[in-house]
Amino acid sequence: MNKDRLEAIYDGIRIQRQTFPSLPSTNTYLIERAKEGAEEGLVVLADSQSHGRGRLGRSFHSPVGSGLYMSVLLRPRFSADASLRITTAAAVAVAEAIEELTGRKPSIKWVNDILLDGKKVGGILTEGALTEDGAGLRYAVLGIGVNLTPPHNSFPKELEGIAGAIGDDASKELRDRLADVIMTRFFGYYATLETCPPIIPYRKRLAFLGMSVRVLRGGEEFIAVAEDIDSDFRLILRLPDGRLEALSCGEISIKLS
Ligand code: BTN
Repeated sequence: MNKDRLEAIYDGIRIQRQTFPSLPSTNTYLIERAKEGAEEGLVVLADSQSHGRGRLGRSFHSPVGSGLYMSVLLRPRFSADASLRITTAAAVAVAEAIEELTGRKPSIKWVNDILLDGKKVGGILTEGALTEDGAGLRYAVLGIGVNLTPPHNSFPKELEGIAGAIGDDASKELRDRLADVIMTRFFGYYATLETCPPIIPYRKRLAFLGMSVRVLRGGEEFIAVAEDIDSDFRLILRLPDGRLEALSCGEISIKLS
């Protein structure tokens, strides 16, 4: 691990960054530190992950020299209900940071996938532990993965045609700069997440609006039109019989139908 570096202070939160050559998963590592009492603002990067994790129990391919793999320790003071906003605010921050550094305009596939030209270039996995009364969060670990370039040996077969990258520069300079811009943008939103979440910038980038999507929820699968998001970032669907249904995240994924 390189030495802790004090990177910045946002709204009183001290950002300390640690970088490791390799970790099983930056999220798993930071959850352990959170349980030991580490402070909000600890940020961990790894050059590679052997067991990078994604949503819905999936893995996140994390080879050396091609991606940003980063986790951020948060100790939110708002309600557990509002914590879904951490993931969505991070999605906006990642999309904006990619645009700032590359000029390309990512969209967001509800709820947390970052897309460029229809391919997934990044994802977000937020994990946390509730307080004893279940009303708040003892901690949340915000995990962010971005493919800077395709891996040297190309993406694994199961990701072919699905995964993409933001460009052809996998230097540590670009990775670290991207991490910094993501943090600046994210902590800008985090300060007012309960009162003023970034609904408008999220909606502006939302993929599939007005389109027919296939919804996978548990064992169930159905087609609906993605109409909008509401003020809690729930996806509003119009079902074939005309009824509206709001999806909270959880064990749900959507695809273009
Ligand atoms: C997803 O696409 O479902 C979420 C992917 C999240 C990947 C990041 S990489 C850094 C952090 N550590 C992990 O094990 N996962 C997240």
